[in-house]
This record gives sequence, structure tokens and C-alpha cells, in this order.
Amino acid sequence: MQLKWHGHSCITIESENSIIIVDPFITGNQMSDLDVDTLKVDYILLTHAHGDHVGDTVALAKNNNAKVVAIVELADYLEESYGVDVLRFNMGGTLHLDFGSVKLVPAFHSSSYNGIACGEAGGLIINVDSKRIYHAGDTALFTDMSLHKNIDYCFLPIGDTYTMGIEDAILAANLIDSQFFIPIHYNTFPEIQQSPERFVSGLKPLKGLIPEVGEGIITK
Ligand code: NI
Ligand code: MN
Repeated sequence: MQLKWHGHSCITIESENSIIIVDPFITGNQMSDLDVDTLKVDYILLTHAHGDHVGDTVALAKNNNAKVVAIVELADYLEESYGVDVLRFNMGGTLHLDFGSVKLVPAFHSSSYNGIACGEAGGLIINVDSKRIYHAGDTALFTDMSLHKNIDYCFLPIGDTYTMGIEDAILAANLIDSQFFIPIHYNTFPEIQQSPERFVSGLKPLKGLIPEVGEGIITK
């Protein structure tokens, strides 16, 4: 399995039998190392509808015949407007797919696309090849994050302005049972300039990782 971060909130997971991308914001993401035209994906998982998360979903879904996994309202909108193949779920729901499973969990954030409300914003808990990954989406700090246990890799936004900032992300990490914490949603735009090193040093003794864009967080 391979796990990589591609700038902003975009991660990819290559499992034994599927390639998964979360929040594929590539075009317009100056940190991204990915090429929309050549990228191969089987599943596109979305935390919420904002443009910096839906990103290149439509092109990737069409190029690859990939399935788009999203909350019901966003899935309906993408299916009706763009004819992409979707799988729907809602808060608390788990979908069992080729690679394992993905559960939609709450986040405190808003959600709209092209000015249209598209359900709620969420986070994702992905079980794949015996690893458990929590992608928190664009959330603010909230105490129910403490209910997430036995996570291996937890991705938390630290950019501030549109999500929690470093102090709240450190508080969140202290609520969540995870082996590693990885900062996301920072340095993509001027309003979200942050020091990931400050996040990781504030986490101690919890373990933080600051992957380079495109670097393997898991490679084997
Ligand atoms: Ni957002
Ligand atoms: Mn965002």
C-alpha cells in the first residue's frame, strides 16, 4: 500500500486492488504534483463540496470511469449536473468497497458548490489493507473527535481562517487516538500560511509527520 499527500487536502492511497484519491484539488493547487490527464484512480472520495476539495473530480471520474463517493446531496448534484458515477452515503454511514470501507463522520464546516448548498461537510474514516486513516476534512475543533479510536494516520487541517488553526489542531490531536498526525490545508493560499513544524513540535509526545508533496507516507 502507498499513502501520499499532494498539497492542500488531497491524499492518494494505492491499495492492493484500488487507487483512491481524497479531495482531488489539482488544477489551481500550486502545491500539487499530480497531472489530471494521466492520473489513474478507481475511487474519488469527497469530504465536502467546496471547490478546493471537489477540484478535478469530474475530469478524473470521466477519464477513469471512477466512482465518486460523497454525501447524498453532493453526489446527486454531481451525477445530475455532470453525469459522473456516484456512490452515496450520509453521516455515520459506511460503504464497503473493493479496497475496504469508508465511513462519513461529522465535521464542523459549511458546504456548497457553485453557490449551491450540497449537504453537510464531513470527515472520512477509511479502512484499507489493515490501515485505518482519518481525514478530518475542513473541520473546526469539536469534542466528538475523541470518539475516533485506533487510527493509524490522522490528517488534520492547520491552515486557520477556513478551518481550525494550529492550536486547535493540537487540541484535536490530543482527543484522537492515532499513531501519527499529519497536517493538511496549509500554505496553499496566502490566508492559510502556517508552519507545520510548529504543529508537530506542539504535538509532542504525540507523533507528527510532515510529508513532502508526493512523498510516500506509507510505501510497501
Ligand atoms: Ni471547505
Ligand atoms: Mn477547504
